[in-house]
Amino acid sequence: MTAIDFSTTIGHAWFPAPTFTASGCASSGRELAQFFPLREMGGVVTKSVMSRMRPGRPTPRMAETPSGMLNSIGLQGPGIDAFLAQDISYLVEQKARVIVSIAGETVEEYSTLARKLRSVSGISAVEVNISCPNVENRGLVFACDPDASRRVIDGVRRTLGGELPIIAKLSPDVTDLVSIARGVVDAGADGLALINTVLGMVINVNTMRPHLGGKTGGLSGPAIRPIAVRAVYQVHAALPKIPILGMGGIANGKDAFEMILAGASGVSIGTASFGNPTAIMSIQSELKQLLIDRGFKSLKDAVGYAHREEGVTRE
Ligand SMILES: Cc1cc2nc3c(=O)[nH]c(=O)nc-3n(C[C@H](O)[C@H](O)[C@H](O)COP(=O)(O)O)c2cc1C
Repeated sequence: MTAIDFSTTIGHAWFPAPTFTASGCASSGRELAQFFPLREMGGVVTKSVMSRMRPGRPTPRMAETPSGMLNSIGLQGPGIDAFLAQDISYLVEQKARVIVSIAGETVEEYSTLARKLRSVSGISAVEVNISCPNVENRGLVFACDPDASRRVIDGVRRTLGGELPIIAKLSPDVTDLVSIARGVVDAGADGLALINTVLGMVINVNTMRPHLGGKTGGLSGPAIRPIAVRAVYQVHAALPKIPILGMGGIANGKDAFEMILAGASGVSIGTASFGNPTAIMSIQSELKQLLIDRGFKSLKDAVGYAHREEGVTRE
């Protein structure tokens, strides 16, 4: 294979490849490690961790939908202390690069989580999942409220200082995504993760009730890919210097390439890994080959290439 610089950076974090797990879709990587060495992909984005153990939402929590799935897991997990005790050391042993995803119910909870991550070695960046209900504001999702989004990122930035890059993970369920993105960048985010799942619902026509225990759920998989591509394209156009981790329905190298052309500096793969646990590795090699075939010498040259002026073509 021809040499190509396949590396990417988010803030001051460097990754040898632009391919990551999507938060919540590979837990802390143990399941995937049965299939390939975790160090061979760009990095593991862990499942969002909260300050305390959470049982998650009632079952059923999954529904198959055309070209995708709905989930209403509800951020089930053991809490940050157990996560730090059990998972970080495992990932470091595997020589994986780690992006820790955090989630909270209050602005203060996010800062508390950030405080616990300070000085933990082996972490490359923190992804801040703000697609959570804000208990201090009638359950309105942080990412749908420009002011709350900014306050969360500002609190995390103040707590972390300049220690770790912050990636703010945004929801596509808003009218003006660019203004939310600008707000979190102004508050100190080094990068953005786009997109979280799209709010959806399935009604069981036999029981004639909502299928999911939590009633609504997050739609993921190929069904949301055009929404994700649009989101990445719009935000890159407005904030071309801000690295974006693009995700939503990426299932092969061509899908990943599309996201890079739209403006993503890296991609996360979630739902595709459920059907095929080696999906990330094949997406990685297909993407690399596509870049080489199109004559790119480095991944960075392809980031946002779809934004070039009319008439400009590759030699
Ligand atoms: C089962 C499941 C659990 C998820 N859990 C989280 C989570 O804990 N934190 C988060 O930020 N996103 C979570 N997500 C969203 C994914 O990280 C990703 O943004 C979304 O699924 C779109 O990518 P995909 O179509 O490749 O799955 C979850 C998605 C799924 C399907």
